[in-house]
Amino acid sequence: MKLSKQQIVDYDKAYNQHPWLTGSVEPLAIERAEGIYFYDYDGKRYYDMSCQLTCANIGYGHKTISDAIKAQLDILPYNAPMYATAPKSELAKRIIDLAPDNMAKVFFTCGGSDANEAAINMARTVTGRSKIFSRYRSYHGSTLGAGNLSGDPRRFSLETPAAAGFIKFLDPYLYRGELTFKSDQDASNYYLKLLEQQIVYEGRDQIAAIAVESVTGANGVIIPPDGYLQGLRALCDKYGILLIADEVMAGFGRTGKPFSFEHWGIKPDIISFAKGITSGYVQLGGVIVSRRVADFYNDKVFQFGLTYSGHTLACAAGVACLDFYEEHKIFERVGRVGVLLGKLLEEQKAKHRCVGDVRYIGLFSAVELVKDKTTREPLVPYGRDPDGVMKRIFGMLRTRGFSTYGRENNINVTPPLIITEEELKSAFVILDEVLTIVDDDTISRSKSL
Ligand SMILES: Cc1ncc(COP(=O)(O)O)c(C=O)c1O
Repeated sequence: MKLSKQQIVDYDKAYNQHPWLTGSVEPLAIERAEGIYFYDYDGKRYYDMSCQLTCANIGYGHKTISDAIKAQLDILPYNAPMYATAPKSELAKRIIDLAPDNMAKVFFTCGGSDANEAAINMARTVTGRSKIFSRYRSYHGSTLGAGNLSGDPRRFSLETPAAAGFIKFLDPYLYRGELTFKSDQDASNYYLKLLEQQIVYEGRDQIAAIAVESVTGANGVIIPPDGYLQGLRALCDKYGILLIADEVMAGFGRTGKPFSFEHWGIKPDIISFAKGITSGYVQLGGVIVSRRVADFYNDKVFQFGLTYSGHTLACAAGVACLDFYEEHKIFERVGRVGVLLGKLLEEQKAKHRCVGDVRYIGLFSAVELVKDKTTREPLVPYGRDPDGVMKRIFGMLRTRGFSTYGRENNINVTPPLIITEEELKSAFVILDEVLTIVDDDTISRSKSL
């Protein structure tokens, strides 16, 4: 059956349940993709300025990746997780080589949510403790454990009732904090002091793990102040708590390093990953665990499993993707092109009254929109957008060929890591045009939200 463009949309609306959307949303039908662009059925081109959900890191149409997947398909498309296969063995070894030197083993999952489920399971089993701390402005997935680990409003539907033992603490979100600090270290000390009090109140020997997105992604690219992750590591060591770094979005080059926590020189106990490991060519995720965690399971059963853990095709895609990162020196180029991204974002901040803050590290960035730069009042209140202001802004961007997403009052800008400086500049012409409209837009500026 060859569907017409209209049938694709109609059948999608009739038969597909979309995540996080109501059934009344009119989907855009995408036909194909190449490089940093995707195309709809009218041949219209879109800059994929979020590489879908910040996962298609190397963009589209790379033959070395599709060839590796096709070759594996003919040899062995799938295997049950208890077997050893060449792609799974090679990928695990290469991930361990890339990770900090305290890391010992990989457990593969199908994506980020189940990676965090595995992390929660391991942390509780290894420590014999039950509580898991995580932050409010975070997203760790939508399955029961990962959803309860998440801090943003997407957790609410899973809290009826909430799973036991998930405790939230405040993010060091300096732009929205009540206090101003003389230095990053002062800010870090303040937030860590609050956290330490909470650890004591919750029972210092009750806490299995603290899970953080090393750099918060979907919730507006919140970058920790210097000293924060180092202090978090020290607190975990002091109280025998495992540190889980969720690198599902920030990992594999997004910030210009294999893992984003490396900017602050720390070594977590468990790293969860997904997205960039295969750039979305085939779904794959996993956890990387330290020697201590790995050794715990030497004589104990890991009580967790997935039929598709270590899926052969996915691992073949992962190996090809790591080859691509290496061959094209992608992580290094992210650092270079990221400098231009920062400059372009700062220009937007200086020019537009609707831009309160811009945050960026590598090719991981967000534009935070405000009603008023002085008061920092967000363009839409937290957890609500009754007039659909942000939806309209994303719509205006997409109509003009700039596709991205964001949460709350943020526009995330996380382009494919292969984007050139020229492409970045051209895409920013569209962003600039839309921000100019937002500057003057009476609906988004009204006080009635
Ligand atoms: C930081 C982080 N962790 C976990 C997840 C969940 O991953 P998945 O959607 O693959 O289950 C996401 C998804 O965006 C994420 O950004």
